[in-house]
Amino acid sequence: MAGDLAIDIRNVSKAYGRGAGRTQVLKGVSFQVARGEFVALVGQSGSGKSTLLNIIGALDLPDSGAVHILGHDYGTTSDRGLARVRNTEIGFVFQSFNLLEHLTCLGNVMLPAQFDGKMTAHQAEERALEALRRVGLADYAARRPSELSGGQKQRVAIARALFNQPALLLCDEPTGNLDSETGRDVIEFFRKINDEDGTTLLIVTHEERVSRVAKRITRILDGLIVEGDDSTIARDSEAKDSKAKDGNAKDSKEEEGAA
Ligand SMILES: Nc1ncnc2c1ncn2[C@@H]1O[C@H](COP(=O)(O)OP(=O)(O)OP(=O)(O)O)[C@@H](O)[C@H]1O
Ligand SMILES: [Mg+2]
Repeated sequence: MAGDLAIDIRNVSKAYGRGAGRTQVLKGVSFQVARGEFVALVGQSGSGKSTLLNIIGALDLPDSGAVHILGHDYGTTSDRGLARVRNTEIGFVFQSFNLLEHLTCLGNVMLPAQFDGKMTAHQAEERALEALRRVGLADYAARRPSELSGGQKQRVAIARALFNQPALLLCDEPTGNLDSETGRDVIEFFRKINDEDGTTLLIVTHEERVSRVAKRITRILDGLIVEGDDSTIARDSEAKDSKAKDGNAKDSKEEEGAA
């Protein structure tokens, strides 16, 4: 496999359920992402975006097909090896933040340190503080997640995802729970991570704003990947916008101005 690919999956299939309730979610998906790319993954609800992201992140297994991520062939990697890849080379950001309430922000960001046997507690703290500084929340290190706004929680979650300086960042609807201004800040931060660190980004999103910042847009349709160019996506989401947002012209104008 070419070493310049962060993601290289071939003919991946995945079904859930049995018998009459069986759903074939992925029907032989092939999909490549070069290192350093910023790709938006779009598609209708239930089309299999999260399923695909989970397979790429070694959180779930395909029924068949080849999965090579950051040069690792998942098909021949042990469970322990997969856990190591998942915990040290890939960062995850979810719509619901997934922060632990009994820990401070610093404690949450430090969590991935447990997978690095060599790091001292002091080093882990220093690194977590640096990550919090990067997302502009160093002053919140001692706070609990419940004391933070949604946007701040997501920035803490991003700091945690960046703790191990992952080569690949997988985000599943990272702005789904944020208002549009906060979402914009988060998207801007992703762009910065991609530009400055060269981190490969794969972001599942419903939002046109995210797909505009992304350098490439990929769509799941009927269990397969369809590469979409910007104009198709813009057309589709305009159609959707005019249906869904009927009468909310101000909002879409603002979004356009920011893009
Ligand atoms: N663990 C599971 N068990 C059974 N069915 C599942 C499971 N996970 C997902 N599915 C089904 O697989 C299909 C794809 O789900 P998936 O979560 O990947 O969609 P999605 O594109 O992420 O949708 P959304 O935009 O709503 O998040 C759906 O029909 C869903 O009901
Ligand atoms: Mg999903």
